[in-house]
Amino acid sequence: MQYFFLMFEDNKKLEGELEKIDKALNGGVSDLIKLQKYKAEEGKFLIVPTLGKIKVNYVAIVGLGKEKKFENDILRRVASYIIRKAKELKLSDIIIDTNLQQFENYDEVVQAITEGLILGDYSFDKYFSKKDEHKVKEVQINIPKNQDKDRLNEFVRIGKILAEAQNFTRDLVNEPANVINTIQFAEIAEKLAKEYGFEIKIYDEEEIEKMGMGAYLAVAKGSDNPPRFIHLTYRPKNSQGEVAIVGKGLMFDSGGLNIKTGDFMRWMKSDKSGACAVLGIFKAIGELKPDITVHGIVAAAENMPSGKAYRPDDILRAKNGVTIEVGNTDAEGRLTLADALSYASELKPDAIIDMATLTGACVVALGEFTAGVMGNNQKFINEILKTSEETGEWMWQLPFNDKLREQIKAPHADVYNVGTTRYGGAITAGLFLEKFVDPKIPWVHIDIAGPSHHTSGWYYHPKGATGIPVRTITWYLLKRSKFFDKIGK
Ligand code: BES
Ligand code: ZN
Ligand code: ZN
Repeated sequence: MQYFFLMFEDNKKLEGELEKIDKALNGGVSDLIKLQKYKAEEGKFLIVPTLGKIKVNYVAIVGLGKEKKFENDILRRVASYIIRKAKELKLSDIIIDTNLQQFENYDEVVQAITEGLILGDYSFDKYFSKKDEHKVKEVQINIPKNQDKDRLNEFVRIGKILAEAQNFTRDLVNEPANVINTIQFAEIAEKLAKEYGFEIKIYDEEEIEKMGMGAYLAVAKGSDNPPRFIHLTYRPKNSQGEVAIVGKGLMFDSGGLNIKTGDFMRWMKSDKSGACAVLGIFKAIGELKPDITVHGIVAAAENMPSGKAYRPDDILRAKNGVTIEVGNTDAEGRLTLADALSYASELKPDAIIDMATLTGACVVALGEFTAGVMGNNQKFINEILKTSEETGEWMWQLPFNDKLREQIKAPHADVYNVGTTRYGGAITAGLFLEKFVDPKIPWVHIDIAGPSHHTSGWYYHPKGATGIPVRTITWYLLKRSKFFDKIGK
């Protein structure tokens, strides 16, 4: 057993078990803090060798940064650094001690630590011939004696389910397009449905055509991998409402005839991130079983150039009758979503959420770490933004306005699939989607082009897919379903 103690930057008083260990080591811990001028900045470790004087070989202290700046996400980050440090030191079982006066809400503390441990431990290493095999076998979280253990265990369970669902999404996004194509994606959805008892309907290209999904079909035409339209439904007995979640599912986005150049085409396997998030969210709700009906919708396709590919200037008709003039075949995501959102609207749910790696412009606007949020209902947008603060998945609203609405007017059809200028490209994409959503249904669009994947990783995200926004949307569904009324939160 090896100890990891948490410490705030502005309060380095040794408390509880750490104070006892310091005494047993004749002040060795406090001496080392002074000697090393250890400040406990966020994520900074102090490893105290115990030289056989007590049962454990190492006692580690890890910094939480300044108390004033503290938020739960710091616990996720720090927990991820702890698990990585434990692996580096080849430790087999560790204890994380959370006995700090500053902590108030322990259900949030243990949940965040659990999530950070599991998210930080993730790596996509299945294709390496040689793997780093070391696994930490057991992690114990020590909590103060006055806390309700059973209740906290429930939050550990929830944190575990959320983080594992996010890792499941990461695994899917990280698979390249030669491993997960449209057909294979549909099979994965089917397997998930079987495992958790979801209803599932998968439409093939003939059925997609019959449904009148002319925009989605056009995008899929250039590829040898045929489109698959997937509709999953989770329907609990005591349903308190109905939400549809829609994910952009481009197994690969080459740009089509408006082909992307080398550097921009790299990582386009992650253009299925929204779709993979839908499956991750379904995995989580399959485990947590909230009282709310959820539809999961994916129009899976691959955007490729070929003799069969759709072209700039083509005029398409979406399921809801709106005609679209194609300005650029690389603005394909919104075309697949046009039909998916029309389909979702026909289900008449209480709310629709779509998640899409939609625009490079969103990354330019907000940076790589923040998702753009848009929609037709400010109250609903606020609820999603509030939830994202709780989960640490950064989101920020981009504003719709009528001047940008003018930019998607097309010369020969109802709407253009690109704006007349490139400015505000994330917003004009959102405004395009708006045309396919029933205005009576509150709808939120989340552009995850930036945070869905990262070439080098950040905080508890390793390089590659991040699994954003699985936790935010699942958490939102839990809250909306009154899940926490039973546990009391
Ligand atoms: N899948 C891309 C958006 C994207 C860019 C995702 C970077 C992740 C990282 C999308 O289909 C696309 O190509 N959008 C174009 C739209 C343009 C042609 C109006 C873009 O952003 O350049
Ligand atoms: Zn594209
Ligand atoms: Zn795309």
